[in-house]
Amino acid sequence: MKGVILAGGLGTRLYPLTKVTNKHLLPVYDKPMIYYPIQILINAGIDDILIVTGGNNAGDFLRLLGNGKEFGLRHINYTYQQGEGGIAEALGLAEFFAAGDGICVVLGDNIIEKNIRKAVEDFKKQKEGAKILLKEVPDPHRFGVAELKGDRIVGIEEKPKHPKSNYAVIGIYLYDATVFDFIKTLTPSERGELEITDVNNRYIEKGLMTYDILEGWWTDAGTFDSLLRANQLVAQTGANKI
Ligand code: DAU
Repeated sequence: MKGVILAGGLGTRLYPLTKVTNKHLLPVYDKPMIYYPIQILINAGIDDILIVTGGNNAGDFLRLLGNGKEFGLRHINYTYQQGEGGIAEALGLAEFFAAGDGICVVLGDNIIEKNIRKAVEDFKKQKEGAKILLKEVPDPHRFGVAELKGDRIVGIEEKPKHPKSNYAVIGIYLYDATVFDFIKTLTPSERGELEITDVNNRYIEKGLMTYDILEGWWTDAGTFDSLLRANQLVAQTGANKI
């Protein structure tokens, strides 16, 4: 399985912090934000990694990470997203890299306390389709929110005003190669983006989506409050425990 980290977008919710740098290069406690999703993949046994960057300072990723020696890697693949067309648009740029393999996608601003090894191993046994991870949160309206019936997931709503559960869809997704066919059929949402939630709903409609509940804490770091929380959580307990 291959890994894709999405670190494009313009990070406007963190302006002016992101005026002269990319959001994923900002510090989270003692490391740049991008270190955390890289470690998520490595801890899951995935070392063939593509980073999708974007914005004005994409060259700084290369300066910071090089070929990933600090992580025990010998090579990192990079590509560039022009503008801010959405998570699914950024993922579409990974089609050549994936080359028909299954992929584990991690949003560049997602940080977890533990690891996703079990979900990755389970997905490898799943012959087709996709798998997502859910986490119960106090503020589901900020995220993609799962609608559950019994132990089935029947739909996901992106940032709903009236969430149908407290289970947020976290930014770690496992897909088979058909994900790129789904992406090609998407149209932009009201916020002008190709939405990953629309991709996930296609898998749900086809009965090809499974899910797990993530153990340990999870946070994004794309707003002032969540960036502060990410710093506090990492400082208090550490991240990416095996
Ligand atoms: O964090 C989990 C949430 O992430 C999910 O629950 C939502 O369903 C999903 O839509 C997403 O929500 P956000 O609105 O918080 O995503 P955001 O726009 O902050 O983008 C998250 C990361 O995705 C960002 O750090 C980099 C990458 N990205 C985003 C966009 C819009 C790209 O690479 N390119 C893009 O154009």
